[in-house]
Amino acid sequence: MLRSLLLGATILVGCSLAGEAPAEEADPGAIVNALVAAGGNQPKVRASGAKGVCVKGSFTPAAEAQTLSKAPHFARTVPVTARFSMGGSNPKVSDKAKPVTRGFAMRLADPSGDLVFVIISAPVFSTRTPQQLLDFATVRAPGPDGKPDAEKIKAFGAANPETTRQAAWLNARPVPASFAGVDYWGVHAYTLTNAKGDATVAKLKWVAAAGQLGLSEDELKAKPDSFYADELKERLSKGPASFDLVAVLAESNDPTNDPTAMWPEESRKSVKLGTVAITALEPDATCDAATFDPVADLPDGIAGPANDPMFAIRSPAYAISLSRRTN
Ligand code: HEM
Repeated sequence: MLRSLLLGATILVGCSLAGEAPAEEADPGAIVNALVAAGGNQPKVRASGAKGVCVKGSFTPAAEAQTLSKAPHFARTVPVTARFSMGGSNPKVSDKAKPVTRGFAMRLADPSGDLVFVIISAPVFSTRTPQQLLDFATVRAPGPDGKPDAEKIKAFGAANPETTRQAAWLNARPVPASFAGVDYWGVHAYTLTNAKGDATVAKLKWVAAAGQLGLSEDELKAKPDSFYADELKERLSKGPASFDLVAVLAESNDPTNDPTAMWPEESRKSVKLGTVAITALEPDATCDAATFDPVADLPDGIAGPANDPMFAIRSPAYAISLSRRTN
């Protein structure tokens, strides 16, 4: 946690002193405020993933993982603390909501340091730049009637068509029946480096061993607004919920700076890096005390994209959200 806070502070101070922040970069505190406002300004909540379930398990690397990355987490089985969540800052959001990403945050622990991934159930993020995220969240703030202005949202989508891809992707698929019955994506382009110094650019995907468990419209109607936590408890009482971590390898023209851009996965080579096995629920306090920082907690052997403005800003934003919800 301290590492996250310090890194956040460094980025903020570094940008303002050196005057390096590009004009389009928004302040991470303003983004956190806008995300919390879009969910109805609930007290002491995560700015995203407010409703969720804390779990634990392990990660076992595949034999090929070390040919791509020298991270120690790819050399032996390591313990995992993780959290599944619903997108957004409203802790009362229905598990039945369709155009909402399911989230999966995980910390792979090693004495040398942690490896953290914070991923979603769509291959793309909703915005390309921090300023666009600020604007995207701001137009979604509820008005005096408790509802956002549908016309404003429509106009924003028309002016920023890349921000509509994620919802279109989710709307084209059934609501997942389980946090363990849907695939998740890292959305950013990572660079994996092996012990010889060879670098490979890849997007990371977690493929659910259970397959895509979608609910029919009738099944959906019969569900209460909160069913994921109970479903997961029941599922884990019978055995682990597993996901294969797969590296989808970039080809030369695949964009590495834009998390709203989809790569044509089916025509890309992929390499299995290992398997995350979720084995049991964990008390909320284990996940709530810190934040899963996908930027600060990356070991040598795996790096985020230097040219994707959405990546670096996650660190200070997550630290600000943590401080707001725990103080
Ligand atoms: C670009 C890809 C992104 C993905 C896939 C993603 C996904 C997620 C997920 C799954 C969570 C829940 C974490 C948990 O369970 O603790 C989360 C939390 C959060 N996200 Fe993101 N996010 C992304 C980008 C961003 C950006 C660019 C910002 C702001 C600049 C942001 C702000 C936050 C904040 C403030 C939290 C709450 C952190 C906490 O309180 O611990 N996210 N995100």
